[in-house]
This record gives sequence, C-alpha cells and structure tokens, in this order.
Amino acid sequence: MDIRKTVNLSWDDFDELRDPRPATNDFDAVVERAISRRGFLGGALTFGSAAAVFGSGVLGSATSARAQAAGFNFEPIGIFTDHDIHVPAGFEWKPLVRWGDALFSDAEGAYSPETGVPVEMSDKVFGENTDGMETFTHDGHVLLAINSEYVNPKINLPADSEGMPKNADEVVLLKNMQGVTVLEIADQGNGWEVVVDSPYNRRITHETLMTMDGPAAGSALVQTNADPEGMSPKGTMNNCGSGKTLWGTYLTCEENFNGYFGATGAYDERPDFVRYGIGGEGRYAYEVHDPRYDLSQEPNEPNRHGWVTEIDPTDPDSTPVKHTALGRFKHENAEMVQAADGRVVVYMGDDERGEFMYKFVSNGTWAEGGSTEGLLSDGTLYAAKFNDDMTGEWLALTPESTGMPLEEILVYTRMAASAVGATSMDRPEWIAANPLRAEAYCALTNNSRRGNEGMEVNAANPRETNEYGQIVRWRPENEDHGTIDFTWDLYVMAGNPEVYDNAYGGSENVTPGNMFNSPDGMAFSTDGMLWIQTDGDDSNEGDFAGMGNNQMLVGNPETGEIARFLTAPNGAEVTGLTWSPDLKVAFVGIQHPGGAWPDGEGKPRSAVISVWRQDGAAFG
Ligand code: FEO
Ligand code: CA
Ligand code: CA
Ligand code: CA
Repeated sequence: MDIRKTVNLSWDDFDELRDPRPATNDFDAVVERAISRRGFLGGALTFGSAAAVFGSGVLGSATSARAQAAGFNFEPIGIFTDHDIHVPAGFEWKPLVRWGDALFSDAEGAYSPETGVPVEMSDKVFGENTDGMETFTHDGHVLLAINSEYVNPKINLPADSEGMPKNADEVVLLKNMQGVTVLEIADQGNGWEVVVDSPYNRRITHETLMTMDGPAAGSALVQTNADPEGMSPKGTMNNCGSGKTLWGTYLTCEENFNGYFGATGAYDERPDFVRYGIGGEGRYAYEVHDPRYDLSQEPNEPNRHGWVTEIDPTDPDSTPVKHTALGRFKHENAEMVQAADGRVVVYMGDDERGEFMYKFVSNGTWAEGGSTEGLLSDGTLYAAKFNDDMTGEWLALTPESTGMPLEEILVYTRMAASAVGATSMDRPEWIAANPLRAEAYCALTNNSRRGNEGMEVNAANPRETNEYGQIVRWRPENEDHGTIDFTWDLYVMAGNPEVYDNAYGGSENVTPGNMFNSPDGMAFSTDGMLWIQTDGDDSNEGDFAGMGNNQMLVGNPETGEIARFLTAPNGAEVTGLTWSPDLKVAFVGIQHPGGAWPDGEGKPRSAVISVWRQDGAAFG
C-alpha cells in the first residue's frame, strides 16, 4: 500500500496501515461473549469493593444513574448532525481564534478563503487543528498556550499539490501551521479577543531551537550529524494534549511524531522503528525536502521526538525543554498532581492500540515559590498494571526491572514497559485528575484490535473490537498520588443501548439520551465535574446511530450521571478545554471541522471558541 496516497487518513488509520495485524474475530462470537457478561454490567458494585472481583469485570458506582434526577446546572442538549455548534439554552458561543487569524498586525488579512495563508505569513498566524491548551495569568496579562496538532495539506497547499508539498517552501508552510501558539487575550467589553502584537505572542514550530534534560539528554541515542552533542533538538511536533505545571509553565505532548519521518535511501529498519511505527514514507514528504527527516541520513532524529516539552509562556525568549525523564512514546497529555510528601507526579497515556499508561514521580519535592530544578529531569517512570480484581500497581521502569540501560528505557519506553508486563490498554488518551479527591481518569478511546492475538481482553479493556471506548479511573492507596498501589473501576463504558442489549450497549450511566463514542479529551472544572470530549465516528449510522456529531459532555464523578453540553460541527472532534481566569468563559477546541465552519464560506477552519452563560455565572 502506498502510504503517500493516504493524505486524508486519520493518524489512527495511518497507524493501522503501517502496522497491519490479523483481521478481527468473528463478530457474532464477540457479541456472544459480551452477552454473557451482561449479568454484572447491571450489578450494584461499588468502587473498590471486594464484590467487584470478576474475570472481565465492569461495574460502576454509576449503577443508579439512570434513575437519578439531573444534577447539572444546564439543560442537556440532544444530538445534531449539522455543520454548526450547539450549546444548552442560556449559553452562547463565538470563535476566539481560527486557523489563519493574525497574531501580529503585519499578518492581518493574511488568510484568504480561497488560498489559505501564504508561506511568508505562516509563522505570524494561529496554526491549524487546535488541540490541548492551558490558561496562564502573568503580571495582569491573560495568556493561552495552544497546540496545533497536525496540518491538513489539502486545505493549506495549492490545489495542484494534491496534498503533498512540491517544494521546500510548501514544507515550510506545513511546518509553520503546526506546533504551539502562545497568545495574549483580553476582554474589553466585547468578550475575550486576541491581543494582536502582544509581546507575549509567539509561534513555536517544527524548527524552534530547544534543549533536552534528564538521563537520555546528550546520550548517543539522541545525537545526530546536525547536533553531535545531542542537546539541541529542533522543534516539537504533533502536539496533542497539554498539561500545566504547578509552577505555571506549559507542557506540550508530542504524539504521532512517527509519521513525520521517511527515507530517500536505504535505512536500518530497527526494532524500535517497528514498535513506534516509523517507516520509509512520511505523511508530508518532509524527508524529500529536508535531510533532517530522512532516516537514511539522520537515523536518530526520530529519537528526539515523542517527548513532553516544557514551555514558559510568560517569556517569549525562553528555550523550550524536552524532558527525557518522562519517557518517549505517543504522548497524549501530561496531568501533573502532587504526592502527599511534595513530590511531583505526572500521569501520561500512550495513544496507540494496546499501548500503556505511565506516571512519573520526581525525586525532589516542590512547594509554592520553591526551586523547580530537577523536578522533571530526576525521578522514576512507571507503567500501569491493572489486575482483574480491581487492584493495580505502578511498575517501576529501572535497569533492574527491564534489563535495559536507563537511556534506552527513556528513549524506547514502550519496550521497557513491555518488559515489565504493563497492561495493554485501549488507546490511552487524556488523563484528568479530580481536584476534590485523590483520583484520576483516563479516556480509553477505542480499540478495533482488542481481542486479536496478543491483545486479549482484560478487565480494564473488556470488549473485543471495542469501537466505543471507556473511561477508567483509579484511586491511589492512602489517597496519595505518590504511592504504588491503587484500586480502579470503569467510570463509563460508552456504547449504544439502542442497538445492543449487551456489553456494547454501554454501562448503566449510558442512555439513549446521552450516548457517545470515543472519549478523548478530558478536564475537570474546579467544582469537581469531569468534562468529556469525543473524537469518534460521527456518521450517526449503524452502531453509531443516535450519537450524532462529536460532542462535549459533563460527568458527575459521584453519581455517574453524564449529560451532553455541546455538539461540534460534523466532521470535527472536540479537543482542548480551559477556562478564563474568572471561570466565566470556557475555551473549547474544535479540530478538523467539515463544511465551511465557522465562516460559512471558504475553507473549514479549526478554531478555539468561547462559551459562556448569558447570566454571567461561572463554570466552576
Ligand atoms: Fe492527538 Fe490521541 O489524540
Ligand atoms: Ca486526542
Ligand atoms: Ca482521538
Ligand atoms: Ca486529533
């Protein structure tokens, strides 16, 4: 198969193509097995209860959710299949910043509905395909740091390019539409707007000079011809989810970095290339125009990507830092919390079928105003093991436990986690920690291959050919994120109760009125409500009938209730959520919209929108 002909594929489908595995099992057999589990799907199991010990157990503290009165301060909305945004009665929305909007006055008007953005203005505008984002307040200024995950070549490049860059300039254009944007926003009576020409406004792209720290920095594994010291990587790519440190910096997470590399000549198909999906033809033909991306010339360049990168949004001259101690994989987001003794804990997912969940725990401790030295470069990385009895543990990735040198553990983290027997998960996307108790949630978006050989079902990932996804949550021992042991349950199993009367109908807190598939983005508001964003099948047909467009829902962690708050334009996923400092406005990311959203004409434009209550009440 010619991967070059796959420019319209999702990154997930690209993975599937590059790494084909045996066909899925017979569907009837899957359903048969799922029906046999129905007995405990409806059972009254409580979190961590000994009664919850089942081979492929799924449960819920959410059992009575269907019967409970809605505990939300908005009227949940129905599904939509159009090319617009819908929010509950009493709420409004408008775009905050769209792909191509100017960050600097010399780029005003750079975006054209017919041709997009010219290359010479491409690093002075907001990038495409918005994803994770965080809000910062600094010296009275309100700043947003926002990821632009990837680029859609067909809407960025001239029509005759057919989705592949023809020359180095077109590669530059694609590079500049991705990465990270830092921008200032202000509300001067007309809602939040971008402050054009703010000194804080900044673009960080695939070319921005960075540095590395931690045990793998400077190692032979990250040295290249262009950087023989292995300390000065360029750029951050495929910036998916985000995180915010306790000390007020931004964490951006490199996800599908593998797709940016290719080879113009013979190269060594190393085992780590196979495990990470790195092959001879990149998605954007960068390697044809730039030797840095050519595996036959710079075989270690991919090792300099797949990291969590820290950016100080308050200093536009600061050099971003790649933290090798946090491991290298397809990072979704980075959720930082603190252990009881003050150590820093970062929860992270690796979004690919069957990959793992991780946490990093620092050796040093942090307190307000204290030094941050070494906090993200010196510590221990762990991978998660979920036992069938609803307990679990974090397995330390050390030279002793893995048989690998430390720098290899960090650069080839997937192999290290396999070596210790971590639990294969259904594509770990965002992790969100409950601010009101020691508890965290991970969206396991879906897994078409669950049940295939080598990816058998397990208690936390209990459905073969899992097209709907689930959200797993865990509570650390002693209510301390620094401990090793935890108990877990499934907060929700997405499903379609109108199509299936079995495990594929979903858990008890899924109803015909709130059903969805493929949970992905997640964040807690300060009141302890879990906001869930979806990136799934929005065909509204067959197994997905009645689910409509992708959406954002709110989950109550205590009752299990889930209510639909927002629906996206058809074609889009909802990803990225943060709030204004006064919590009165939610900023929500709309990625890869279809139609001509939001302008109504011209090209579809990924955008961050503002959503607020007409009565001015806060979200938190
Ligand atoms: Fe970029 Fe796994 O989502
Ligand atoms: Ca995602
Ligand atoms: Ca996704
Ligand atoms: Ca995406």
